[in-house]
Amino acid sequence: MRKIIVLGCLIGASFFVGCNQTTEAEKKAENEGQPKELEMYEESELALLMREMYEDNLVLKTQIENGEIPESFPEDFYNIHTAIASKGMISDTAAFNVYAEQYLVNMKKITEASDKKQAKIAYNEMVMTCASCHQIYCQGPLPKIRKMKIKIDE
Ligand code: HEC
Repeated sequence: MRKIIVLGCLIGASFFVGCNQTTEAEKKAENEGQPKELEMYEESELALLMREMYEDNLVLKTQIENGEIPESFPEDFYNIHTAIASKGMISDTAAFNVYAEQYLVNMKKITEASDKKQAKIAYNEMVMTCASCHQIYCQGPLPKIRKMKIKIDE
């Protein structure tokens, strides 16, 4: 129980990076070039859902690392198809939906894993689906997403 509470706090305090996270090198390049325009940033439904997916999947990660096979995942994840994204974020809805569907399929595969090791493999494949969609639409969180993977020892 204690463990779960501690984990909750850590997640709650973690810093969320949006899509436009820039590296130090990029910031430097910007400073040397044009002045940067300041934009008001309002969180979209999709951004909020993504944060939830991130947090909830880290909870699943701990369970799977502890040898459990999750029976389900939060229903809210299905909203990935309908949640409204930030303006201008998704230019090609059809392609987005293909990735979104693959993500949900991979979430489901975790729950269908036949043993502990398969659950870890399925979980890592799900993380890869997060990453492949992010490579196209929103690169900022990629380093964070890659860190979500479970180390599997043979
Ligand atoms: C189908 C494509 C797709 C998949 C799959 C996907 N994402 Fe995203 N993600 C996006 C898009 C697009 C945004 C930008 C949303 C916006 O700004 O409206 C985003 C935003 C985010 C953000 C930033 C939220 C913020 O605070 O602005 C995080 C963190 C994130 N995703 C994590 C994940 C994780 C973790 C997974 C897998 C469990 C995942 N994403 C799966 C497309 C995807």
